[in-house]
Amino acid sequence: MPDFSKNLNRKIFKTVSEVASAQGVEVYVIGGYVRDLILKRPSTDIDFVTLGDGIALARGVANKIKPGLKVSVFKNFGTAQFSFKGISYEFVGARKESYSRNSRKPKVEQGTLEDDQNRRDFTINALAISLNAEGFGSLIDPFNGLDDIETKTIKTPLSPEITFDDDPLRMMRAIRFATQLNFHIEEETFKAIARFKERISIVSAERIIDEVNKILKSPKPSIGFRLMDSAGLLEIIMPEVSRLKGVEVVNGTGHKDNFYHTLAVLDQLARKSDDLWLRWAALLHDIAKPQTKKFVEGQGWTFHGHNFIGSKMVPKMFKRLKLPLNEKMKFVQKMVNLHMRPIVLSEEEVTDSAVRRLLFEAGDDIDMLMTLCEADITSKNEKKVETYLGNFQLVREKLKDIEERDAVRNFQPPVSGELIMETFGLTPCREVGIIKNAIKEAILEGEIHNNFEEAYQLMLKVGADLKLEKNNS
Ligand code: CTP
Repeated sequence: MPDFSKNLNRKIFKTVSEVASAQGVEVYVIGGYVRDLILKRPSTDIDFVTLGDGIALARGVANKIKPGLKVSVFKNFGTAQFSFKGISYEFVGARKESYSRNSRKPKVEQGTLEDDQNRRDFTINALAISLNAEGFGSLIDPFNGLDDIETKTIKTPLSPEITFDDDPLRMMRAIRFATQLNFHIEEETFKAIARFKERISIVSAERIIDEVNKILKSPKPSIGFRLMDSAGLLEIIMPEVSRLKGVEVVNGTGHKDNFYHTLAVLDQLARKSDDLWLRWAALLHDIAKPQTKKFVEGQGWTFHGHNFIGSKMVPKMFKRLKLPLNEKMKFVQKMVNLHMRPIVLSEEEVTDSAVRRLLFEAGDDIDMLMTLCEADITSKNEKKVETYLGNFQLVREKLKDIEERDAVRNFQPPVSGELIMETFGLTPCREVGIIKNAIKEAILEGEIHNNFEEAYQLMLKVGADLKLEKNNS
């Protein structure tokens, strides 16, 4: 039996051991913490299982750490949890019944440690280390989870049918762990996912999206999306992304497969940015390509307006997937909508006014947009990539230059609507809008600078052109 006593150097393990011994119960540290300990991954959640009352043990331990420490109790599940110095500690009594987070009235029947390990999701998550005085630090590994960690394998402890039936979210968890840890899913386990995929529909959207977000936050998110796709889960969860797949050929001309292109963009972006929402933007940047696709004689495949239509698809998807409908969503929409702009810019001559307009529309998100666009270059032709990146560098320099000079990044009209109305003795009307717009356009075009004096003069001129009279009162 491998001995992990040297790895249990946190004070908490001694404390839990002592309190359990005083209460006359056995206790083990189990699950993700043990897996991550072996993998040398940092972990902020520690789960304990006791052959006794989990709630009483949690209370005893919390009281010993710090009298009065708040313990959250989930009576239905026989679990209790508390946090201390950024670490979450959860205690559960070993149970016999199948794992079921969703059912409102789970039957909690006391079980052995083995019963508890049996009902866990994967062999790598079913490892336990004893905290009992006798055998402190010994690993209890009935399913050879240690070997599976060694061979980087995701596998259910029981037959996959039983394990996935207990909680179909585990199909997504298998894919998520494979992505996060760069493990492979054992064949029988994977085949069962493909067979049981429809069962995912009984799982709440919130739990599913949690796993999708963890896949997106992984170092190489494409692993998870390829697995979801080949198991048939992607089509159920995100049909829009699944529809990106495939190549159509007309007159011998095909377009690129937008699914694999998207995955390449996502992986490239993941190397440049940790931002979850920018990763969502990468996933969705070409989402409207299937419906905007058109073969134009003499021109080839076109996807006109896919950025704009794509940005309109975002709210519907976010709503269905239970993603936030706040400024995070607006950010993703903006990225999808603007993702072609820097490319177009870098292909043509980079004029000041085009850069100014881009800056005006992207605002503070301009750096994120540039990062997305750089990740969007997936050409195999190294020369092309070099040229594009060089052009983007030029765009970035111009952006900096122009921002320093004209400050249009967070554009505030230098002359307010109130001043326009006051100057010409107007109440709110069309003319006010015309003048404001003329000033904005002149600044973006570089005809005037972004300052009060020049804007004021232009206001007077446009007002005169509109035959407005200056109010002298
Ligand atoms: N578990 C399970 N089935 C689930 C969820 C969890 O069997 N659907 C078990 C696993 O043994 C898991 C433990 O509960 O290791 C803790 O779950 P959780 O905190 O969700 O996952 P971790 O494995 O700790 O991994 P992570 O923190 O990355 O989610």
